[in-house]
Amino acid sequence: MTSPAPMDVTNRFVLDFARRFEQSHPGARILDYGCGAGRLVQAGRAAGLAMEGTDVFYAGSSAREEAAKTGLLGSAIHEMMEGRMPYAANRFDLIVNNQVMEHVEDLDAVLREIHRVLKPGGTVLSLFPAVDVFREGHIGIPFSHWMRKGSRRRFYYTWALRSLGLGTWKEQAPTCRQWALNKLDWIDRFTVYRSRREIFSTYDRYFASTLVEEAYIRYRLLDRPGREWVVNLLRLPGMMPLAKAVFRKLAFLVILSRKESR
Ligand SMILES: C[S@@+](CC[C@H](N)C(=O)[O-])C[C@H]1O[C@@H](n2cnc3c(N)ncnc32)[C@H](O)[C@@H]1O
Repeated sequence: MTSPAPMDVTNRFVLDFARRFEQSHPGARILDYGCGAGRLVQAGRAAGLAMEGTDVFYAGSSAREEAAKTGLLGSAIHEMMEGRMPYAANRFDLIVNNQVMEHVEDLDAVLREIHRVLKPGGTVLSLFPAVDVFREGHIGIPFSHWMRKGSRRRFYYTWALRSLGLGTWKEQAPTCRQWALNKLDWIDRFTVYRSRREIFSTYDRYFASTLVEEAYIRYRLLDRPGREWVVNLLRLPGMMPLAKAVFRKLAFLVILSRKESR
């Protein structure tokens, strides 16, 4: 069993949220939906939370092998089969999902399944980008997800920007051309970008939801020392709405949802 690996700032935010949730709901059962390698589950359990994880372990990542190394696969981390989670209805008080919903093909079916295993009155915290973000986060090429799939324009544009030094995971292809081909193929197979309107109309079928980017922006700023002055600046009139608008274009949505109480 491996010890908990360092987490990125979004997962640290989610862990912080889960800890505070547990303080107001002692003994809460928490699920990390789309847990990937299981780092958050490991860290949550190390912090004394009753946290479990589930994932389809899609072919686009090596998360299943990494999750197995945590020693939690089969006990606290369960693989989903045919879109269904291996849990009874109304089991969890809180379900978190970080950078998952932009990968699911059928958002309605996923939210229906989350609704099934969430207790009445339970909470869902979702972090993921809508189509209107400027930068495609998985390959790091701005606007590549706005262009028509398979188009020559998109391919030459991506190749050109990669040749100028943009893009992530650069070591994974021998040439810039091959990198562009591989990465565009990856985003075509494993991402589904939706408009905010589509996202909210789907969430609204199952939950009452609000956007809570403000909490994330503050957390992110205070995650590094010496940024208190920026947080103070955001208290000035008009600054927080501006920060939220910029954040949504550069990062992702942070959605807090509640299932109706019985
Ligand atoms: C970018 S990773 C994020 C993993 C983890 N939440 C994190 O923050 O490190 C996306 C994860 O979503 C999972 N995934 C994709 N489609 C899914 C679905 N329909 N249901 C559950 N998980 C899914 C993938 O297998 C992958 O582990």
